[in-house]
Amino acid sequence: MKPVIVLLVSVAWASTGAQYYYQGLIDYLENRLLAIEDRMVLWHEQSHRYHTEMLDFKKLTAEMVDSAGKEHHYLRLDLGTAGARVERAERELDYRESMTSPRACVHPADKVLEQGVWHTGTRRRTQKEEEEQEEEEEAGEWEEVRSEVSDCVNIISSIRSVKILKQVGGPKGLWLRDPRSSKVYVFNGTTGDTVHQFDSLLDLSRPSGSNHSSSRDVRLPSPWSGAGGAVYNDYLYYVHRGSDRELRVVKYDLLKGLAADATMLPVDGPAPVYTLNPETAADLAADEQALWLLYAVGEDEPNVHLARMDPDTLDIEQLWDTRCPRENAEAAFVACGTVYVVYNTRLASRSRVQCVFDVNDVVVSEEAPLLYFPRKYGAHASLKYNAAEKQLYAWDDGYQILYRLNTKRKLLV
Ligand SMILES: *[C@@H]1O[C@H](CO)[C@@H](O)[C@H](O)[C@H]1NC(C)=O
Ligand SMILES: *[C@@H]1O[C@H](CO)[C@@H](O)[C@H](O)[C@H]1NC(C)=O
Repeated sequence: MKPVIVLLVSVAWASTGAQYYYQGLIDYLENRLLAIEDRMVLWHEQSHRYHTEMLDFKKLTAEMVDSAGKEHHYLRLDLGTAGARVERAERELDYRESMTSPRACVHPADKVLEQGVWHTGTRRRTQKEEEEQEEEEEAGEWEEVRSEVSDCVNIISSIRSVKILKQVGGPKGLWLRDPRSSKVYVFNGTTGDTVHQFDSLLDLSRPSGSNHSSSRDVRLPSPWSGAGGAVYNDYLYYVHRGSDRELRVVKYDLLKGLAADATMLPVDGPAPVYTLNPETAADLAADEQALWLLYAVGEDEPNVHLARMDPDTLDIEQLWDTRCPRENAEAAFVACGTVYVVYNTRLASRSRVQCVFDVNDVVVSEEAPLLYFPRKYGAHASLKYNAAEKQLYAWDDGYQILYRLNTKRKLLV
């Protein structure tokens, strides 16, 4: 600003003739310049003030952000300790559960109902009749069955590991692997006529967008009902519920692509075999020994019943009342002639094996496992045992889960 004034003043002096003439103008200009200078000083002061205010504000916000960050940190620490506390409480609960729960009940197979004939009536035997029959059985064909399956010396003792393989389906369904062909089958839903077949577990676990060149759809001649299918040695067995409400077990030849056989189950109107999965009226399990059928005799009969079927002809060879209640059961599986019934609560909690039935009558109460399944998503819609791999194929709320199991030798009596 100053040099401008000096310039103007010197210009004014240079033209001395016009000195007086211009004096007024110079005064005027000087005044204007002074006023401008004043205003500029004012602006400067103002901008300085604003700047300081802004600095203060920045400092303030920085402090606030800082304290918020600290609070967040403390909050996270609090959450962390709360999480640890919840975990500890859960562990304690687990411990209490395992301390206070009774061991799984074992019902020895001392009640062979009938041989080769369906027990259709709901008549219960008297104590005396049962005793008589037991005596007969002990003397008769019972020994035969025991020796036939006596190579089955293991009992499931604990769950070794859990693997979540995939989520491919709706809330309910079943999946399993044929122990003979190693192919994997997925029954999505509790009814349908298309089963997905995969060459291996790897093929199933591939992301769904990729090229499933080894998967194919198997169209069954009639829809399955419930989560009760089984596959063994390229034969697929499923339960079909006709329009007449009759239940049939259908044997489907996967290689030839046609129904090989079917047999009707004369039950007194289908009732759910596991009350927590009411869509399943009958459940099949195939292993190296037989085709096992778990079913409910009728609404009034409270227990899960077991039938041993010939996998070739579907003839029923033997029947048992497992005395494991259907109430609050969600699934069951058969391993080595032993039925393990898995229970839960209506509001899904942790599944557990709470009832064991051994057709060979060698599992004694003391060695019955108390198996608690780790809680994953919802509840099990199905559990299928693969004896060759010693693992369970579970369907939990659309997820395909593998439970690897530990086994131990039965205390042979
Ligand atoms: C399985 O069924 C559900 C409906 O229950 C459907 O949404 C889903 O797409 C099906 N998945 C496959 C792989 O078929
Ligand atoms: C899927 O695989 C088949 C044979 O392996 C091939 O012919 C086809 O082009 C592949 N499709 C895609 C989308 O990669």
